[in-house]
Formats: sequence, C-alpha cells, structure tokens
Amino acid sequence: MEEVKVLINEERLSKRVKEIGEQIQEEYKGKEIILICILKGSVFFTVDLAKIIKGNVKLEFIRVSSYTDGTESSGKIDLKLDLNDSIEGKDVIVVEDIIDTGRTLSYLIDYLKTKKPNSIKLCALLDKVERRIQEVNVDYTGFQIPDKFVVGYGLDVDEKYRNLPYVGYIE
Ligand code: IMP
Ligand code: MG
Repeated sequence: MEEVKVLINEERLSKRVKEIGEQIQEEYKGKEIILICILKGSVFFTVDLAKIIKGNVKLEFIRVSSYTDGTESSGKIDLKLDLNDSIEGKDVIVVEDIIDTGRTLSYLIDYLKTKKPNSIKLCALLDKVERRIQEVNVDYTGFQIPDKFVVGYGLDVDEKYRNLPYVGYIE
C-alpha cells in the first residue's frame, strides 16, 4: 500500500464540520432540511454534519459514477442510484466530499433542479479550486485544498482508505 500523509487531521475536520453544521442550523431555523448524500464518498461527512444540525433533518442518498479519462472526470455521468422520496418543494442541501473539475456536481445540480425543490444549496467538504473546469456555486466549503490526490474520511483510491479518520494524501 502507498504511504498516506496527513493533510487535515481529525481535530481540524471535526471543528470545521461543527462550524458548518451550526451555520446551516442557524440559516435554516425551523425548516425541514433534506441532506442529499452523494455515495459513497460523502457518507462520513454527511453523517457527522447531520449529527450537528439540531432540528428536522432528513437524509437522501444518490449515487453517480463519473467516467474518468485518466486523471479527471470526463463529464459523462451515470446515475446509479436515484432519490427515494420526492424533493419537490423541499429545502435541499447536496453534500459532496470533494469538488475537482466540477463536472459531476454541475450535472447533478441540474438534474436535481428538474425535481423542483424549493431551494438547493451545495455543501462540499473539500474544494480543489485550481482544478475547476465547470463553474459550480458552492454555498458551504470545508477546506480549499491544493491539487493533490486525497483519501480518507470517505474518499478512496480503488475503494481503499475510506475509513481513515483523517484526510490524507498520496504522493
Ligand atoms: P469532478 O467531476 O471532477 O468535480 O469530480 C469529483 C469526483 O471525483 C469526486 O466526487 C470524487 O469522487 C472524485 N475525486 C476527485 N478528486 C479526488 C481525490 O483527490 N481523491 C478521491 N476522489 C477524488
Ligand atoms: Mg464523489
């Protein structure tokens, strides 16, 4: 196995997740929130975030595969698992692990808008801003990170390392 170096440790992760959760709680006071977790990478982040937000939170799961042409997503995306319940008229927050080129999310947000939610916001734990090809509007960002391949806290390389409690990188 490759060596994984720590980029964001557990303490920084949980502090930032708590801040974002509290901000969301404040901004959605009294409203029902639908958190849409994008499988599999966002599972750890979504669960931790959901536990911070006090109030009416429901969870939905969606799964997409983005085809890569070598190192980046090609823009061709396949919906592998769709929403379970209708989000029409709901206040939705899409929770993503990482934004790289932005192609996956821009497709997904367009798709979700066709389901007529009342509002839709985007919350991403990590953002590799300098890699952006397709513009996406991120409402809540955990950390902006340099262009490194990261793993842990849900993120994988060939399904490995998702269970690391920190975000690390492989050189
Ligand atoms: P985008 O369409 O290029 O923004 O790709 C985003 C998707 O690529 C994410 O949801 C991840 O699944 C994957 N990805 C991008 N960068 C990384 C990384 O550094 N580590 C693990 N997965 C990544
Ligand atoms: Mg992903």
